Amino acid sequence: MRTITLTGAIAISVDTPFLSGFPSPWASGGTEDSGWDWQEAHVKARAFVSNLTLPEKVNLTTGTGWEADVCIGMTGSVPRLGFRGFCLQDGPLGVRYSDHNSAFPAGINAAATWSRELMRKRGEAMGAEFRGKGVDVQLGPVAGPLGRNPQGGRNWEGFSPDPYLTGVAMAETVKGVQSKGVIACAKHFILNEQEHYRDRIDVKMDDRTMHELYLWPFADAVRAGVGSVMCSYNKINGEHTCENEWTTNYLLKNELGFQGFVVSDWGAQHTTLGSALGGLDMAMPGDGSLWGGALTEAVLRGDVPEWRLDDMAVRIMAAYFKVHTGSYADRPEVNFSAWTNKTVGLVHPSAKNGSEEAVVNEFVDVQGDHRDLIRQIGAKSIVLLKNERGLLPLSKPRSMAIFGDDARDNPDGPNACPDRACVRGTVAMGWGSGTAEFPYLVSPAAALRRRAELDDTYWFETIDSPLTAVQRLAGAADVAIVFAAADAGENFVTVDGNAGDRNNLTLWNGGDELIQAVASYQKNTIVVLHTPGSVNIEYARAHPNITAILWAGLPGQESGNALVDVLYGEVNPQGKLPFTWPKDESTFAGIPLMFNALDPLNPTQSFDEGLFIDYRWVEQYPQSQWRGVSWPFGYGLSYTAFEYSDLRVKIHNDNTPWYTANQGLTGDAPTYGKIDTAAEANTAPKGFKKITPYVYPWITTPTNNTNNTTARSAFPAAAYNGSAQPVHPAGGAPGGNKGLFEVLYTVTCEIRNVGDVPGTDIPQLYLRQHAGDDNTPFRVLRGFDEVALQPNETKTATFNLTRRDVSYWDTDSQNWVIDKWTSQEVGIESSGDLKLTARLRVGG
Ligand SMILES: *[C@@H]1O[C@H](CO)[C@@H](O)[C@H](O)[C@H]1NC(C)=O
Ligand SMILES: *[C@@H]1O[C@H](CO)[C@@H](O)[C@H](O)[C@H]1NC(C)=O
Ligand SMILES: *[C@@H]1O[C@H](CO)[C@@H](O)[C@H](O)[C@H]1NC(C)=O
Ligand SMILES: *[C@@H]1O[C@H](CO)[C@@H](O)[C@H](O)[C@H]1NC(C)=O
Ligand SMILES: *[C@@H]1O[C@H](CO)[C@@H](O)[C@H](O)[C@H]1NC(C)=O
Ligand SMILES: *[C@@H]1O[C@H](CO)[C@@H](O)[C@H](O)[C@H]1NC(C)=O
Ligand SMILES: *[C@@H]1O[C@H](CO)[C@@H](O)[C@H](O)[C@H]1NC(C)=O
Ligand SMILES: *[C@@H]1O[C@H](CO)[C@@H](O)[C@H](O)[C@H]1NC(C)=O
Ligand SMILES: *[C@@H]1O[C@H](CO)[C@@H](O)[C@H](O)[C@H]1NC(C)=O
Ligand SMILES: *[C@@H]1O[C@H](CO)[C@@H](O)[C@H](O)[C@H]1NC(C)=O
Ligand SMILES: *[C@@H]1O[C@H](CO)[C@@H](O)[C@H](O)[C@H]1NC(C)=O
Ligand SMILES: *[C@@H]1O[C@H](CO)[C@@H](O)[C@H](O)[C@H]1NC(C)=O
Repeated sequence: MRTITLTGAIAISVDTPFLSGFPSPWASGGTEDSGWDWQEAHVKARAFVSNLTLPEKVNLTTGTGWEADVCIGMTGSVPRLGFRGFCLQDGPLGVRYSDHNSAFPAGINAAATWSRELMRKRGEAMGAEFRGKGVDVQLGPVAGPLGRNPQGGRNWEGFSPDPYLTGVAMAETVKGVQSKGVIACAKHFILNEQEHYRDRIDVKMDDRTMHELYLWPFADAVRAGVGSVMCSYNKINGEHTCENEWTTNYLLKNELGFQGFVVSDWGAQHTTLGSALGGLDMAMPGDGSLWGGALTEAVLRGDVPEWRLDDMAVRIMAAYFKVHTGSYADRPEVNFSAWTNKTVGLVHPSAKNGSEEAVVNEFVDVQGDHRDLIRQIGAKSIVLLKNERGLLPLSKPRSMAIFGDDARDNPDGPNACPDRACVRGTVAMGWGSGTAEFPYLVSPAAALRRRAELDDTYWFETIDSPLTAVQRLAGAADVAIVFAAADAGENFVTVDGNAGDRNNLTLWNGGDELIQAVASYQKNTIVVLHTPGSVNIEYARAHPNITAILWAGLPGQESGNALVDVLYGEVNPQGKLPFTWPKDESTFAGIPLMFNALDPLNPTQSFDEGLFIDYRWVEQYPQSQWRGVSWPFGYGLSYTAFEYSDLRVKIHNDNTPWYTANQGLTGDAPTYGKIDTAAEANTAPKGFKKITPYVYPWITTPTNNTNNTTARSAFPAAAYNGSAQPVHPAGGAPGGNKGLFEVLYTVTCEIRNVGDVPGTDIPQLYLRQHAGDDNTPFRVLRGFDEVALQPNETKTATFNLTRRDVSYWDTDSQNWVIDKWTSQEVGIESSGDLKLTARLRVGG
């Protein structure tokens, strides 16, 4: 036992034994007063699992193998109870490898709207589509990568390098998806910040950075009730995340109180026992024989405690019952195959000894009216970076010239390149597993041309012209729009030499040359960028002929329509940068991606920058070290202007104790049902026709608990300890201690639209912290609001600051603490401008 002191205005002491990552915490369903809504699901899951045999339990935990069934991942089933296996399907922006589904704007665009409402609706619409196809688990949303470096290949699948913004987006997405009866999967847990060496890179991470940066948005996902979390490919402090008792057992299941299941990224599991004891609950896609029969055998031998297996099954079924309120009969069958576009296809495509054929694709149309939402998110995520001389919005321009391959349709169709792994025609999503097939893709050229026809705008368009022809045409029109792109994706495909991560921050396919060629002949040049993050465009910011720059991100199927809405002022832009826009690679050179490891087999990377990524980094280090930023985090222009006044800070709870640490013990590890150790109970029934190489839960070599401790000796005894365990002081409720989410301050201010057109502003609250040390960022985002205003209208923006928002993570006490600050201020900003500030009175 050691004594820690939780300090604050009222100091309280608690005795906390040293907590380790073992044993793996068993789910309990929590208690209602702690704000859990898992009890009912947990009761049902317990009853269900109590009725299962050992191989049936194992079946739920293990995938049947790559391409063994129709989904990207499918677990075994419980035929005796009429319960089919779980269908898990990519990805974070729509149903992958399917048809008659929507291609939603990427996560990074959802973040750029800064709209909780649109984030929620996007989640709901995606959830409805997955449900309509019979999918049980949508493999999204993404908070890892968080976006440590802008070149990270999969940043666009997630939301923002700011943990607060990503946390809000995670919570809204999870709630939206799960409200439609589909389990969301918060991924990739955790520190999967780059694609190079992702399967083995060993990230060295300190505890405070983990809590305040990378774990934060996952805490929000858990608080929102997420049913599953995917452990990632990388290692952390020497151990793969899917076997990592610190990240999975200690942080996720104990501290954050996660009640659902942890599923491995595809192939991210490395051992039978290490993963089971380290907290993995479901192995995907199941190949490699680490679980299935091997897990059954490990339980029979006593190498995996029975309670650990039961906990896996209960967590999986609790997630199921949490989102499925109806009976099994309401559960849709899977009605598509990820592996063929034909109506009739192989039921088990990987089968080497022959698979039956059946109708596998019913081509169910799940799109509903989602196109309207997609267009709205597309428009509201566009960030207007520059708008000189009021060029925008356009109003019936007399003539217009369009440049750049990124404006156009891919001549072979929007899905011509598998997994979108090419840059041909307009870019509307990145590449890799985070993609979906486009039902259609409205290119900017098509949408602009339609608009030009309505307005009698004289229309010039060039296709792959030499720069000299471009220049001739550029000068001929009243306005020129140049489109340019960059792309990024997952490292199983390399595009133009980019193995997932971007090699550089410049535009692709000669985009810079094209922009410069047009701008040197055209005084009204508009630049539109489809990129997965920032690109080096400082020259365009400074160029007198480039009157407008718009970042449209990766907007999905309604790309062109959404752009026209903003260019012509049907939608007044509200998008704000969800990341800092550096002038070039030098800005984040101190937070490097590792492209060339000294030891390629055992690459190690220390995240030495700690908390200082994105704007935290640029505000911490003198500009002399880098060239500066083109636009700050949170930046984005509007067609109107806003005025701020009357900042007020209301203090809540000033008489309550600071923080009640979670104390006490859990119950003993429960087991559900009885295991039959008889050989015939655990081997395939006589006459069962196995499919090769399908993964089954049965043992092939009869085994028994021999009390052979050799395998077990590789783990601390605590890994096998099923007695009651002390709870985590910062835990006790979903996402962490209930007290963390108490509102301590409510900040309000008045915002008035002082322009001529309706518009929406995104006021942002930054906590400006003075800690008297070098380890604390100068300011951090801790609130934002979305305020729609008619001209002359005034509304109140409201920001709630919770205890977690104003605390820091104290590694010694393993808890959130407030007293570090010598002072804290709130700064209300709009588009990078500080509007109002007030001191926070700490100490009640
Ligand atoms: C247990 O299984 C039997 C069928 O074998 C079924 O009738 C019963 O409802 C099941 N009980 C639970 C709690 O699922
Ligand atoms: C496990 O799942 C597979 C695939 O769904 C099924 O064929 C098998 O019968 C299941 N095993 C048990 C013990 O239920
Ligand atoms: C496929 O989905 C549709 C719509 O959800 C549903 O009506 C149909 O029954 C499903 N197909 C099968 C085979 O379950
Ligand atoms: C199905 O069709 C899409 C194009 O719509 C294509 O991208 C995909 O590769 C096809 N899938 C298979 C398995 O053939
Ligand atoms: C950066 O990468 C893109 C895509 O591979 C390439 O088109 C461009 O030429 C590269 N830029 C530089 C400066 O090398
Ligand atoms: C801007 O465009 C005009 C033509 O309209 C051209 O003469 C001038 O050189 C351009 N300026 C720059 C900096 O390229
Ligand atoms: C395991 O031990 C039990 C009890 O001694 C016995 O009934 C069973 O057949 C054994 N199983 C195997 C696979 O040897
Ligand atoms: C294994 O060892 C424990 C403790 O030594 C003993 O209680 C138990 O009966 C043994 N189990 C078997 C199957 O031999
Ligand atoms: C005990 O387990 C170890 C590791 O699993 C194995 O190598 C060894 O052969 C086993 N010993 C006996 C006596 O079964
Ligand atoms: C199991 O854990 C509890 C709580 O930490 C501890 O008191 C007990 O001594 C442990 N048992 C063993 C056998 O290590
Ligand atoms: C806004 O208010 C001012 C005076 O406060 C008035 O002159 C102007 O017409 C109003 N504008 C609109 C659009 O109502
Ligand atoms: C702010 O917190 C108060 C008090 O907990 C709550 O009633 C209110 O709904 C919250 N408002 C927002 C905008 O979150």
